[in-house]
Amino acid sequence: VARGGHGAWLIDHEGTRLADYIMGWGALILGHAHPAVVGAAHQQLRRGPLVGLTHPAEVELARTIVEAIPSIEQVRFTASGTEACMTAVRLARAATGRTNVLTFEGCYHGHSDGLLVKRGSGLATFGLSGSAGVVPAYAAETIVVPYNNLGAVEQAVAQFGERIACAILEPVAANMGVVVPAPEFLNGLRAITARHGILLIIDEVVTGFRLTYGGAQGLVGVTPDLTVLGKIIGGGFPIGAIGGPRSIMQQLAPDGPVYHAGTFAGHPVTMVAGLATLQELKRRRPYAELEARGSHLAEALSRAARTASVSIQLNRSGSMLTLFFTDAPVHDFASAQRASKARFAHVAAVWRRHGILVPPSQWETMFLSTAHTPAMLEACVDAFAKACRTMPAP
Ligand SMILES: Cc1ncc(COP(=O)(O)O)c(C=O)c1O
Repeated sequence: VARGGHGAWLIDHEGTRLADYIMGWGALILGHAHPAVVGAAHQQLRRGPLVGLTHPAEVELARTIVEAIPSIEQVRFTASGTEACMTAVRLARAATGRTNVLTFEGCYHGHSDGLLVKRGSGLATFGLSGSAGVVPAYAAETIVVPYNNLGAVEQAVAQFGERIACAILEPVAANMGVVVPAPEFLNGLRAITARHGILLIIDEVVTGFRLTYGGAQGLVGVTPDLTVLGKIIGGGFPIGAIGGPRSIMQQLAPDGPVYHAGTFAGHPVTMVAGLATLQELKRRRPYAELEARGSHLAEALSRAARTASVSIQLNRSGSMLTLFFTDAPVHDFASAQRASKARFAHVAAVWRRHGILVPPSQWETMFLSTAHTPAMLEACVDAFAKACRTMPAP
């Protein structure tokens, strides 16, 4: 339980300060309570939190996103990443007249029923219900294949190609711990989907404006048909967004036949806070600095593990990283599952005793912000070295 935070510190319910590596699950790239973001939100609150019509900042935030991400001509805001992914899939189904969705095991796209699906026993099979309450018939509209496996994509397309409306994935996976795409994976997926008339949806809810000013898609050189955004673009307030070419986006209501609505979509406080965040990121361009900090932390943690003869895999992309306690590379969900949970739990507990907060699960991501200082990173490495000396059996 926590009350709030400032910079890279979280203040828990007892008022204790913790070095925060959760950072609002990646939303708070500028740290907690950044003055520009809080100031913009305050000002809008005084004017009134909700207008029930389009707010000027909604237009401005959409314009800022369009300028930053070349594959996006038009944007629609939602109140969460979940809604944005759900609506992007609906849009893809309407645009293609097809039904099935291709997903990648270990990626997370929010908690709509059709996307809470787990892989069956085959390489490319219809999915199984991924949560109590998800009707198997819904899950069976979704095909699930392993991440980083183009062979499985080829097989899915050979089996179900004409029925697949879209493929959706995280360009760098953050929800099985960090898993980076193999060099040819995203380009290969783009080529296969284009060949078969399947729309490619890149879910940049985590990676958008985190790895570059724009999307990870720019970094990896892949142009999707639709992009989903969230987290950072809301400056710490609830948000999601769908973006893409006008030809597809105009199929959304009220211009087109694909239903979408939301009382709080495009919420004025979110819009001004998101705009203040992107303006700050555009002005400051902290990406080289975040990369340097991430790389420094990763190297120091790896060195400490080596010194203690503890096998780890440190998966990282820019300011997102995950430590896996295993000697085998982690490149998909199955390999992530083989990491030692006991060792992760031990390290997380030692960190916590030293006032350092990391996501309490092996399959989440540690996030750095512009507010993390070298001294905080050093304390993180020192505590990790201590944890390595008392490491339990895997
Ligand atoms: C990649 C990805 N997509 C979608 C979502 C869902 O976003 P929200 O929690 O805003 O519904 C998340 C949430 O963590 C996410 O990481």
